[in-house]
Amino acid sequence: MQADTTIERIGGYEGRPVTLTGWVQNRRSSGRIRFLVLRDGTGVIQCVFVKGEVSDAAFELADAVTQESSVAVTGLVRADKRAPGGHELTGTDLALISLAEPYPITPKEHGTEFLMANRHLWLRSSRQHAVLRIRSEIIKAMRDYLDDNDFVLGDTPILTPAACEGTTTLFPVDYFGEQVFLTQSGQLYNEAICAAVRKTYCFGPTFRAEKSKTRRHLMEFWMLEPEVAFLDLKGDMDLAEDLVAHTVARVLEKRRPELETLGRDIAKLEAVKRPFPRISYREAVDLLREKGRDIKPGDDFGAEDETLLGESHDRPVLVHRYPAAIKAFYMKRDPQDASLALAFDMIAPEGYGEIVGGSQREDDLATLETRIAEHRLPAEAFRWYSDVRRYGSFPHAGFGLGIERTVAWLTGVRHVRETTPFPRMLDKIYP
Ligand code: 4AD
Ligand code: MG
Repeated sequence: MQADTTIERIGGYEGRPVTLTGWVQNRRSSGRIRFLVLRDGTGVIQCVFVKGEVSDAAFELADAVTQESSVAVTGLVRADKRAPGGHELTGTDLALISLAEPYPITPKEHGTEFLMANRHLWLRSSRQHAVLRIRSEIIKAMRDYLDDNDFVLGDTPILTPAACEGTTTLFPVDYFGEQVFLTQSGQLYNEAICAAVRKTYCFGPTFRAEKSKTRRHLMEFWMLEPEVAFLDLKGDMDLAEDLVAHTVARVLEKRRPELETLGRDIAKLEAVKRPFPRISYREAVDLLREKGRDIKPGDDFGAEDETLLGESHDRPVLVHRYPAAIKAFYMKRDPQDASLALAFDMIAPEGYGEIVGGSQREDDLATLETRIAEHRLPAEAFRWYSDVRRYGSFPHAGFGLGIERTVAWLTGVRHVRETTPFPRMLDKIYP
């Protein structure tokens, strides 16, 4: 039952016999002909069986095989311009691997509730398949970019004794009688690692017990976090911009068929070129007020505000210098105006919201210790973090890019629940 090749690579086999293994996506018949649409995880191909040209057993099986049964098809590869993927298989044999029970997801429309409960099966659909492939490409593009630019991958722990992004969204874990937490971000550890290797990044799952049920929030999401020694806010924004522009270009280059499967407006992605607009928080507030939002300087942006800011531009916009009061304890203040943090968010166009959050970090030991106290964080748990300032402090900056929100934006999928195989949401943890 070993396949000779996959549907993705079938172009190299024109005019030759091959055996393919996969699942029956669809089946129909017309007189003496049986059509099976075979899905092998790399693509789909139509296989045609003609009565009298295959064994009776194979022909009968082509009639009896159920949706999602696993099979091996042997046949001759033919180029066919009309066929999706450009090829068809003239079947010479068909073998059953496993007959599927009646499949719950039929070609008719199903509600999201039902599809989410069957997420393990829903993944097999062409739309979910396309999203998975684009997600994988995005991650590869980003890692390639960092690896090729001298970043050292230094993985950071998932189990952590302290909070990074505020104490209200922590998932507690019992660690042999001690309370620890699932990580909200690898950043604090990255700061120590960048003193060892200069440019580092981590890529892993992060957790937020956020009681939000929006299309942008997951309890568990993957974050790519670069951190660079001797980098300031401007350099940090340059890096985020270059990384995102590179990633969009790669997806356009390698995953165009998947974007087409999803019906993504490709022209919108083609517009995403450097430079991205940069506006200060104050300018963003003015822009929002012009658009009729009831927002005052000092307020944080809500989902609606982010949507409006994103929709005001044809590419991601970087908003910088937020009020320090609404940002994290570790951010360095603007020397021009101590009420502002040297922070930025990158807001995606088309209503996908914040995809990147970053900042220059506080590098003065005494100031950092004051901030830790002001935020009522346990000084003891942050002793090692202060040490990064105690022993040869240095300016440094970094950011976190949320993979799922980036996938949602690039694929054009509205809700982040479809951007990861098994999303963890407020009221859902099955399957
Ligand atoms: O802005 P955030 O909270 O930044 C940090 O965690 C920093 N410590 C990162 C750093 O500087 N190394 O999160 C960064 C990004 C957001 O812009 C968003 O894309 C994503 O992580 N994110 C979420 N994605 C899905 N669901 C959630 N609940 C998310 N929370 C944040
Ligand atoms: Mg943020």
